Amino acid sequence: MSFDWIDEDRLPQFAPGEQLLLFGAGQGCVELLQWLAEFAPQTIVTAIADNDNSMWGRSLQGYPVIDPATIAEHEFSRIVITTISGEDPVSAQLRAMGHEPGEHFCAVGRYPTNHLGNFNILLELDRACPFLNPGSRILHVGPGGFLGLECSLYALGHEPCSMDAYAFGVSYPDVTERMDKYRGTRDALLQTPQAKDVPDAAERFDSLFSERGGRIMLDEQRMPYVAPARFSSLPFDDASLDVISSFAVLEHVRSPENVVRECRRVLRPGGVAVQRILSRDHRSFGQVAGYHPASYLDHSPQEWEAVNTDKFYQNRVLPEEWRDLFEQGGLRVEFFRTLGQYHFSDEERERLHPDFAHVAEAGVVSVNCDMVVRKYENG
Ligand SMILES: C[S@@+](CC[C@H](N)C(=O)[O-])C[C@H]1O[C@@H](n2cnc3c(N)ncnc32)[C@H](O)[C@@H]1O
Repeated sequence: MSFDWIDEDRLPQFAPGEQLLLFGAGQGCVELLQWLAEFAPQTIVTAIADNDNSMWGRSLQGYPVIDPATIAEHEFSRIVITTISGEDPVSAQLRAMGHEPGEHFCAVGRYPTNHLGNFNILLELDRACPFLNPGSRILHVGPGGFLGLECSLYALGHEPCSMDAYAFGVSYPDVTERMDKYRGTRDALLQTPQAKDVPDAAERFDSLFSERGGRIMLDEQRMPYVAPARFSSLPFDDASLDVISSFAVLEHVRSPENVVRECRRVLRPGGVAVQRILSRDHRSFGQVAGYHPASYLDHSPQEWEAVNTDKFYQNRVLPEEWRDLFEQGGLRVEFFRTLGQYHFSDEERERLHPDFAHVAEAGVVSVNCDMVVRKYENG
């Protein structure tokens, strides 16, 4: 099987009988457990640490999920960090506890590359509500370490730019280690009808890459990437962009109102912001028992802040609330669709925090959405 959430090249040689403590109870952890079962079956996992206090005391595939402060109470010769979003803070946390990188711990997480996934969503939304014009200046916020969408848009004749708040394992401008992924994206792109309509799409894609001293470099002029930079404070001039796009990013911002204000500021009149928002409680993506797509509504604001301490932050803005925020922020919502609904059981309804009594009363909540909002021509 292929492993998307762990980088096999980063995995060390494990000795037979070696005791491991894993850090991060998400998808990377699930994949690492599969990898160990297949390729290092004699290793012994003693516990899984996670900074999310709501996970402590639960179990993942029978392994206890523990408070990192209690790591020393467990047997292990090595800690393996599987989280990719939390890799830097967790490494710092372990160093502060006296563990040395390489010697006592290693990080093996990787964010999956979806070759044309976001590209296809962008084009689908463009069909529903046309916004792409030849040579559009398009900002992609939060690429997650891989600029395949940006390269594809450049190949089709647009003027992309990119920015991210966190590294997510990005290699830029040196992309030598990720060239297999860029080649995969190029091959997939050239099969699309959109690329077939652009005679020089392949040449444009290839022109972004050049060799320097045995390394492959992305062209920083034609493929600008700014990091760290936050959605709530976009490093762009007023009215300078035709399109702002993001996929699985808005659910992580801390100040949604500022993001809306910034979108309105940097878009040209008539420009659009295109968003896929994965509002689902991210804990329910993993295999730790007891979470559902809206289980974050069980917590008070204070509890939710505690859950997010030293974690990759997730806000609790629901799809319709995002729609209202953009409308109140002076942008016209031209397209909005929710991607799912979650119906609560009676027991789950009772567990919802009183702040979400209206959700409990409805018994159902929207989960995930796509949205296209436009800045008014005179806005
Ligand atoms: C779950 S990843 C999604 C990556 C990619 N868009 C995808 O669909 O695979 C979340 C991305 O949002 C970025 N991000 C989170 N908070 C952000 C913020 N406040 N401003 C800009 N980017 C942010 C992260 O660095 C990361 O690249």
